[in-house]
Amino acid sequence: MELPAECDGLFRAPQSLVLEAHVPSLAAYRERYRRSVEEPHEFWDDVAKEFYWRSQHSGPFLKYNFDVTKGKIFIEWMKGATTNICYNLLDRNVNEKKLGDKIAFYWEGNEPGDSMKISYSELLHKVCQFANVLREQGIKKGDRVSIYMPMIIELVVAMLACARIGALHSIVFAGFSADSLCERILDSNCSLLITADAFYRGDKLINLKQIADEALQKCKDKDSPLKNCIVVKHLGREEELVSDGICSKSPPLKRLCQDVQEKETESSKRFHPKTPWNSHVDLWWHELMKNASKECEPEWCDAEDELFILYTSGSTGKPKGVVHTVGGYMIFTAATFKYVFDHHPEDIYWCTADIGWITGHSYLTYGPLANGATSVLFEGLPIYPDVSRMWSIIDKYQVTKFYTAPTAIRLLMKYGDEPVKKYSRKSLKVLGTVGEPINPEAWLWYYRVVGEERCPIVDTFWQTETGGHVLTPLPAATPMKPGSATFPFFGVVPAILDESGEELEGEAEGYLVFKQPWPGIMRTVYRNHQRFETTYFKKFPGYYVTGDGCKRDKDGYYWITGRIDDMLNVSGHLLSTAEVESALVEHSSISEAAVVSHPHPVKGECLYCFVTLRDGQKFTTALMDELRKQVREKIGPIATPDYIQHAPGLPKTRSGKIMRRVLRKIAKNDRDLGDTSTVADPAVINHLFSNRCETVL
Ligand code: WTA
Repeated sequence: MELPAECDGLFRAPQSLVLEAHVPSLAAYRERYRRSVEEPHEFWDDVAKEFYWRSQHSGPFLKYNFDVTKGKIFIEWMKGATTNICYNLLDRNVNEKKLGDKIAFYWEGNEPGDSMKISYSELLHKVCQFANVLREQGIKKGDRVSIYMPMIIELVVAMLACARIGALHSIVFAGFSADSLCERILDSNCSLLITADAFYRGDKLINLKQIADEALQKCKDKDSPLKNCIVVKHLGREEELVSDGICSKSPPLKRLCQDVQEKETESSKRFHPKTPWNSHVDLWWHELMKNASKECEPEWCDAEDELFILYTSGSTGKPKGVVHTVGGYMIFTAATFKYVFDHHPEDIYWCTADIGWITGHSYLTYGPLANGATSVLFEGLPIYPDVSRMWSIIDKYQVTKFYTAPTAIRLLMKYGDEPVKKYSRKSLKVLGTVGEPINPEAWLWYYRVVGEERCPIVDTFWQTETGGHVLTPLPAATPMKPGSATFPFFGVVPAILDESGEELEGEAEGYLVFKQPWPGIMRTVYRNHQRFETTYFKKFPGYYVTGDGCKRDKDGYYWITGRIDDMLNVSGHLLSTAEVESALVEHSSISEAAVVSHPHPVKGECLYCFVTLRDGQKFTTALMDELRKQVREKIGPIATPDYIQHAPGLPKTRSGKIMRRVLRKIAKNDRDLGDTSTVADPAVINHLFSNRCETVL
């Protein structure tokens, strides 16, 4: 007998999904999980066999040390085996699996109606051409290439072309500022930058090339060896179509045409100024591609060769260059994608994450392509041009598996059910979330309204560092509890530790750690292995420490409770309080700053900043505006403070350490402060309570 979808607070997948699922029951999950942990070699070797290996590994399948007290931390999967990830994602699918004509991506632009598609064989050709371009530019195996691009097909082409020739891509989210881009280019000593002219995010024009130029100027001042910048003509392409008079075909181009006519009046803002150009540095993508060959021999890489660097916030304020390697990352993203989304060849999959974040690396590019999947690549925003955009795209492409962030769900939930119900969404089978804890209210809305109680929700917990999902339901196997990431993925062994490092059994709450490596775990922090060891392995020797708090309930379900270090999660994006503080104190009026996270109904968390002024300075609205601008310029718009409070003094311990715990309570107006006996000057606290910021800036 089929159980109802909801029973005893547990939600189950419908029978139709169970019947065709790769893992159809909890018992099947448990059996495979047991094998993955007890016989990791055999388990992962089975996954690896699906891929092409130029040569097999020579030493042990897995070798590692997780214990700092025993020596250097290292993790090696299949060392000595050689392969190429781009070959496996493209050539293998085209030549061996005969998927050449299958669509790899449906690209949906910012403007509705602006779309295109690309098949596996077309993607392979473009990647080969661009890989040849990179080689012509002198890029070799091991070199670093910085990529700063909007969500366009060329971004995928650029990253896979790097992977094909063994160069490391370092993608910087296109919402980051020139300072942030420069810092990342310098840290990994990149020899080339790839960007685009400009793009629209909603109705906001982003002159990306101009920001890239500012970053390059800053790099030059610091003796960076970076010489060239390859530029995709993205917005310019559309404008040329418009000026050639072929604009009537698509609605966005029509809109642009209207703008051309109105240009003399006031709407010239739709057109970006001419792309700034320095002929000694800049090269147009399309000109380089014109004569490039569509054949390109891949570079055969060791399974443990570095694949890419992706920066993530660090609690010291300086971002960490997380390094993933070829073999382990390939099999882990492939397996998690297959099982967590229960992928089948006829699926249309859509992950809304930007490729500038790890989710876009693992679940828009590597994982789906490794499975020969068809995905939607979306350039725009969930509420542009209206709040039904997501659901209209789901109907347009008949999306079956949909993966997004809790912050987007909360945002759309605010507009009620009607914009969702305007569209059918009948194609949907599995829904997913990632990036931050999802509150049960948002979970239930997603389940009931978006998925009409027929689509399981996979709440996937993972990190840039883990490479792929580590705690997650499997859609047909795991009975779900709203807000819980449920159980570990294959090969992942979680534990909950108390402050003294004791493992807690049964129902418990404490530090979430992992006891043994899975193939997709990061290998090092780029050129700073010591930081890798200190950040993740020092606090509890023998364990990988996530930095997240976690609860296990009586049924063994895991519930992430949020960060327990000085990090905060704004709309699913991790920021460190230290990096925002250092951006604030660079302002000449500020002597000290303390930043804490504060609950926010849509973003999950937001920034509440306490600032102390230098003598003689005044706290004015103009100063607040300047501070907000300063943070945007130093980091990017995602870090814009929501609250700034003047703090003539900050609560500190006698040894001078700022008590953030107390500041968090002040921000929330929660007078239940706990023990404040260590505060050096208690009067400071009262003052801050009576001058709280009530309204968002
Ligand atoms: C948080 C994003 C609760 C967590 C893939 C983690 C989550 C950080 C979830 C990593 C989830 C991610 N439930 N919290 N399902 N997924 N997080 O590196 O705090 O950008 O440590 O990777 O996001 O963020 P990152």
